[in-house]
This record gives sequence, structure tokens and C-alpha cells, in this order.
Amino acid sequence: MTAFFDDWDTPVRPRVATAPATTPASRQAGSPAPSVTPTAPASRPDAALSATDARPGALAPVRAADKRIVNGKGDINQLAPFKYPWAWEFFLNANKNHWTPLEISMAQDVHDYHHRLTPAERHVFENVLSYLTTSDILAMRNIGLAVMEKMTAPELQIYQARQVYEEALHTWTYQHCIESLGLDQQEIYNRYRVVPEIHGKIALANRRLERVMRADFDLTDRDNLHEFALSYLFFAAIFEGCWFYNGFTPIFALQRRGLMKGTAEQLQYIMRDEVLHCAFGIRTVRTLIAEENLQLDPAALARLWEEAEAAEAAYAGYLLREPILGYSAAQHMGQFRYIANRRARQLGLAEPFPGAENVLPWLDEQANLRKEKNFFETRVTEYQTGGALSWE
Ligand SMILES: [Fe+2]
Ligand SMILES: [Fe+2]
Repeated sequence: MTAFFDDWDTPVRPRVATAPATTPASRQAGSPAPSVTPTAPASRPDAALSATDARPGALAPVRAADKRIVNGKGDINQLAPFKYPWAWEFFLNANKNHWTPLEISMAQDVHDYHHRLTPAERHVFENVLSYLTTSDILAMRNIGLAVMEKMTAPELQIYQARQVYEEALHTWTYQHCIESLGLDQQEIYNRYRVVPEIHGKIALANRRLERVMRADFDLTDRDNLHEFALSYLFFAAIFEGCWFYNGFTPIFALQRRGLMKGTAEQLQYIMRDEVLHCAFGIRTVRTLIAEENLQLDPAALARLWEEAEAAEAAYAGYLLREPILGYSAAQHMGQFRYIANRRARQLGLAEPFPGAENVLPWLDEQANLRKEKNFFETRVTEYQTGGALSWE
């Protein structure tokens, strides 16, 4: 046993119950000295709740019914009893998708990028990376700085803490791809600033994020609450649920032709995280809307979808100004509208693009990572060790 674990493995010595050196004023003379032995053993789960055990200064126990998504007044440091057990399930599921970018070989991608991709394919590949690098930092800041601090139930915050880590992991992944391929970091990272069609999507997200991140943003104000719900909805259902979901597709199109398979596999792992982020966010927003009896403004919702579609169309036009084999801007936008309808249904809202068809039926299947690498034995197994994850 190494010294590192000593703190954890040293048995707890029973402490002798003695009277404190000074008697608290609140304790009456003659009453028994408080014991320092832990109370509420497993055989008496209700002991801590017993009114007869209540001591001066004792706080009321936390009740699940008192928890709220936001504006809760209860103790936020106590995990259970759960009001949102599904949030804890999300945390457990997220922990089944363990990986790091270093565990996926990029060797073939280096050859593909320099010797097999056409100029149009390199343009697509580089600009997808340029967009993603900035997007995941935005996603991290949104969930960590704008959303998590407003939650008033710890089971929600714990999943979001994991999500913050995952967004950082995704940024590491893009950086690992950029480094592995020897791309010019200065140029790739700045591209979202100098290419207006990429910046349009970033600017839209930044605008929503900056408003709900204000220090004086008070969620007891109904207008602010409405804006917060719309902003979280935007990040979960559009930014992650459409733009990320759809955003990886051009790379998957290359993967289907045997190109850039290392990068594509990295993105498959990211995609699995993002699907959970999207599903969690949508469920949280739906619960928030019901809990707070919010009515989302139809005009604001329509504007949300319109802006998202316009920004995506400009991006797709730049990215795929020349179609690549098996993938075009029209297909990209068709898929955006089809996935947007799916997100709206999941939110319990009307479809923004009625009649949109599934123009890339291979995407859901391609995105769904069936092969699990056993990294310790460097072989591929055909089953998913962490249990099936839902992709809806
Ligand atoms: Fe991410
Ligand atoms: Fe995410």
C-alpha cells in the first residue's frame, strides 16, 4: 500500500465520548453530555429525523418536495432525498463514457490529411475544427458559469459539474487533433473571428450567454426567468442538440469513405457526451417550465429557430461552398431541420420545420458508437461495456 492511500485506509479509531471542556449555554444543567459517536446507525434510519432527538439549534431535515430547479430555498449541500432522480441517473450514465483523446490513434489521419484529402475536403475538415474549438469553450462557460450556479438542487449541479469537465475534455480533443496533424494553431483558432460565417453562430451563442451571466440577473423576476429558460433551451436543444449533432457530420462523411477515421472516432466519443448534455438540458428546461408555470413566448421561440437556421445556413454555405463526395450544403441544412424538429418534439413544442425529411439516414447509426475500445488491451470489442445509451 502506498503512502498516497494512507489517509483513506487508516481505520477510524473509536472516539471516547467525553463532555466538552465548556458546557454550551443552550444545554441545561443535568442534561446528558452530547455524544461524539456518530448517530443514526443503519438500523435506525429515522433516528436523525426523530423529533424527540431534536437538539437546540437543530435544523429541519431536507425534504425532496422542497427542492426546486431554481430559486429553491432549501439546503443545497445535501444530495438525497432526490427530487430529480433522473439527474443522478444522467451522472451515472455519463461516467460510462470514459476516454481521453490520447487513447485513439491519429497516425492514419496524418497521412490522410496530407496525402488523400482534396483541397475542398481539407477546407471542410479545418473549418469544422475551427468552429468546434471555440464552441466547446462556450458550452463549458455556459453550463459552468451561467447555468450551474443558478440550480438549487445538488443532483442537477453534480451532473453539470461532470458536463463542465466533459466540455474541457472536448476542447483537449480538438487541440490534440490540431497538434497531431501539425496545423497552424494561430490560424485555426482565429478562424472563427476572421470568417463571418463561422462567427455568426458564435456571436449568437455569446449574446445569449452574456445576458444570463450578468451578476445582477435575478431569477425571481419573471422576465429574467423566461429569458433564462430560453437561453438554456437554446444551448441544450440547438447549440448542443443541433449544431454539435449536425456539426460532426461532415467528418463522419469522410469517415464513411475511410478517411480521417481517428478524428471521426474522437468525435463519436464527443457526440455521445453531447447527446446526454442535450437530453439532460431538455429535461431540465421542461421541468423548470412546469415547476414555474412558465409560458414560452411563441414569437421568441420562432425567432430562436429562425436565427439558428440562418446562422447554420451561412456556415454551411461557407463550409461546403464546394460539395465533397457524399455531402453537400443542402444535405447539411436538410439534416439540421430534421434534427431541429426532433429537439422541438422532445421539448414538447411544435416542430419549427414541418415536413423536413431525414436526408442523411446514416447519421444516427454512424454517430452511435458501437465499438468499444478496451484501451488496456488495445483491442476492439463489439459490445458497449457501459450499457446502452439512448440517442433520442
Ligand atoms: Fe462538448
Ligand atoms: Fe456539451
